[in-house]
Amino acid sequence: MEADNERIIEVAGVTKRFQTTEGGVLTALQDISFSVRSNEYVSVIGPSGCGKTTLLRVLGGLIPTDEGEIQIHGRPVTGPGPDRAIVFQDFALLPWATVLDNVAFPLEARGIPRAERQQRAGEVIGLVGLAGFENYYPHTLSGGMQQRVGLARALAVDPETLLMDEPFGALDAQTRRRLQNELLNLWQRYRKTVVMITHDMEEAVYLSDRILIFAPRPGRVAEEVLVDLSRPRDEHVRRTTAFADLVEHVWETLQRLTIE
Ligand SMILES: Nc1ncnc2c1ncn2[C@@H]1O[C@H](COP(=O)(O)OP(=O)(O)OP(=O)(O)O)[C@@H](O)[C@H]1O
Ligand SMILES: [Mg+2]
Repeated sequence: MEADNERIIEVAGVTKRFQTTEGGVLTALQDISFSVRSNEYVSVIGPSGCGKTTLLRVLGGLIPTDEGEIQIHGRPVTGPGPDRAIVFQDFALLPWATVLDNVAFPLEARGIPRAERQQRAGEVIGLVGLAGFENYYPHTLSGGMQQRVGLARALAVDPETLLMDEPFGALDAQTRRRLQNELLNLWQRYRKTVVMITHDMEEAVYLSDRILIFAPRPGRVAEEVLVDLSRPRDEHVRRTTAFADLVEHVWETLQRLTIE
């Protein structure tokens, strides 16, 4: 077991630019630096277009940086790796494959034999509360169930780091809150290093150890908020003054950044 305070992700001076359709250049991320410790839960919050998804894609190794570097355990990220799994906002499931096959798919890509794939997929499907739905197709499931499949697919490979892009963004408020609780319980049981993007201030405070507040044009880290609420947490924490104060602080910071 590695020490809990070990830094595993180091983002150093990362800048990412895109060509615009008008032939200009857009700086999506400007000189971003931060680190994430082992088993830490970090959320990224900020206005639309401030580069949050771009950051996640860079962390996932899906796109290269223009400047700066990301290191994981001291090694530069040059592409996707089995140590990182991504949960996408729009679930990104294979429509023609069953729940079981969707979850087993990344295991197949890793050359794991069929019987073991199916067993492992079955286990994580149970973990996310979908036992009995193994043979369903995505379009026959609710949004919340589809996102459970997305989460199971990421957990199936037992990644060290979970990268989540607004995992509950497409869900109604009740489903969202239920899944927040389930994710919190899973995390408290199995621990993972998490970087989660969200628009939801309560969600960020409820789940995180630390919140990075991003500012737009160009996308940058404007402030870091330490969420010093004790763990393990449950719904009771939502009713504390400390919780309300943290949400208020995030809100005020975001307001200030939007006005600037
Ligand atoms: N492939 C691309 N080509 C050109 N521009 C891009 C590309 N991807 C992102 N951008 C631009 O980079 C900026 C940041 O986009 P990004 O998707 O990272 O924002 P975001 O913070 O995730 O926004 P939202 O909260 O709406 O999801 C935006 O202005 C976007 O138009
Ligand atoms: Mg986004």
